[in-house]
Amino acid sequence: MIFLDIYSEKDMENLGLTQAGLAVPGTVIFLSGELGAGKTTLVRGFLKGLGYKGPVTSPTYTLVESYTLNQISVIHFDLYRLKNLEELEMIGVRDIISTDIICFIEWPDRGIGLLPMPNYHIDIQYQGEWRKVEIS
Ligand SMILES: Nc1ncnc2c1ncn2[C@@H]1O[C@H](COP(=O)(O)OP(=O)(O)OP(=O)(O)O)[C@@H](O)[C@H]1O
Ligand SMILES: [Mg+2]
Repeated sequence: MIFLDIYSEKDMENLGLTQAGLAVPGTVIFLSGELGAGKTTLVRGFLKGLGYKGPVTSPTYTLVESYTLNQISVIHFDLYRLKNLEELEMIGVRDIISTDIICFIEWPDRGIGLLPMPNYHIDIQYQGEWRKVEIS
């Protein structure tokens, strides 16, 4: 278990950026924390670390967004608005999450039952102006 105090959006992005060098295809990462905690910011940094230059926003309505950079595919789920597990099944979650991709899942508790066990769980908690990040 690793605990980090993150004091700015930039630092959260940098945390994701440094993780980009470590992740291997097949890695599943759960991201938990309240609305606006910084989950998407971390994914944005991760993609930046892989060389992605475009915008990264939460796929709130589409539930899933994918990126391919330097032969590495990254899938970013945001299950906040998931209505039920059937909807997740329709998206084809079992086929999407494979050994070939790196997968980030925001609000994973909404998909329990269909999601695989994560390799990492990153929990972000508000602590006044800053954030406490717990990586397990
Ligand atoms: N220390 C910090 N780390 C990360 N974000 C911060 C920090 N301090 C302030 N912020 C702000 O908090 C917001 C985090 O938004 P972000 O979209 O990353 O959250 P989220 O956890 O993905 O939320 P949601 O569940 O709504 O998708 C940004 O507006 C960012 O500027
Ligand atoms: Mg988000």
